[in-house]
Amino acid sequence: MKKIMKSLAGETQAVPPVWMMRQAGRYLPEYRETRARAGDFLSLCYTPELAAEVTLQPIHRYGFDAAILFADILLVPHGLGADLSFEAGEGPRLSTVATPGDLAALRPAEAVHDTVAPIYETLRLLTREIPPETTLIGFAGAPWTVATYMIAGRGTTDQAPAHSLKSRDRATFDALIQRVTDATILYLKAQIDAGAEVVQIFDSWAGSLSGTDFDEYAVKPVKRIVAALKAGHPGVPIIAFPREAGPRHDGFLTATGADALAIDTAVDVDWAARTLQPDGCVQGNLDPTLLIAGGEALRSETRRIRDALSGGPHIFNLGHGIPPEANPDNVHVMLDALGAA
Ligand code: CP3
Repeated sequence: MKKIMKSLAGETQAVPPVWMMRQAGRYLPEYRETRARAGDFLSLCYTPELAAEVTLQPIHRYGFDAAILFADILLVPHGLGADLSFEAGEGPRLSTVATPGDLAALRPAEAVHDTVAPIYETLRLLTREIPPETTLIGFAGAPWTVATYMIAGRGTTDQAPAHSLKSRDRATFDALIQRVTDATILYLKAQIDAGAEVVQIFDSWAGSLSGTDFDEYAVKPVKRIVAALKAGHPGVPIIAFPREAGPRHDGFLTATGADALAIDTAVDVDWAARTLQPDGCVQGNLDPTLLIAGGEALRSETRRIRDALSGGPHIFNLGHGIPPEANPDNVHVMLDALGAA
């Protein structure tokens, strides 16, 4: 069995398998070169040969245990009919969903395939090109996080427009969450059919939900996605990433049925070992900014996380995506400290 699959099946390994969130990205000169050839970010996502190429760049450079499909969580809103563009240096821009009329103008969930079909082709190409020991990970955003971008039309620091729609017009908000959940189920099923061996669900803004809202919008939609995927593909492990969920990480795997929990940098690893690892594999949680300066801080933190989680199933990863300013050589320092080099 591949190293990643062993950890996801609950096995404890002396040297944990490793990959990095956003491992294909701007910190790599070869990524910037391919992206320039593609013209813009969305063309890169929708051109299977180029998307497969950038997916494999970090595998060729570092030999990670997993390759994550190169795409974006905002392709689901795009498939639902939202206008989407990425402005250099400004992040994503989308048409907004703020009224019942905006919701009615969205396409049905099944229509998502029309737009995202190239993503399935990227996965089919990757199944042929990926090294045999490397696990292919597909992904999608969790409905709450995706909805925050659809409602605001951009990234926000406090998700205020989404919270405001939720209190002002709960019916429209709930219908949007349902639509995104339905589309995400179809999208992830098709990714698995095209060759994804594992899927990760990114809920980057889970931390801004509290109390019953957390149950309703961070737990329930993910639980529904997990149940739908497990019904058709019981052997495909699912990694949940409820970022900044704090104490709500406790019980999240049991509540959603996911197999592994990705933890952000703020989660104390000794607490994670005691509280989370008994429920399943834990993935994380090196501070990504350590890859900018490198040095002894990077080495000692890498070893501290590895050792704290060494009593149970662990996939070594970052607590969030690697920043564009990271020094590519520092990834070798991290792998060396981990014992994976
Ligand atoms: O991890 C990987 O290497 C796979 C590809 C991947 C990307 N985005 C590529 C990308 C994945 C898994 C994502 C997830 C994603 N996208 C999330 C969830 C994880 C997180 O970071 O919290 C979110 C919130 C998005 C939405 C998104 N995409 C934003 C806010 C931005 C702009 C900010 C930025 O970093 O520029 C993107 C663009 C994006 N997605 C880039 C990449 C490599 C940079 C685009 C570029 O090349 O200019």
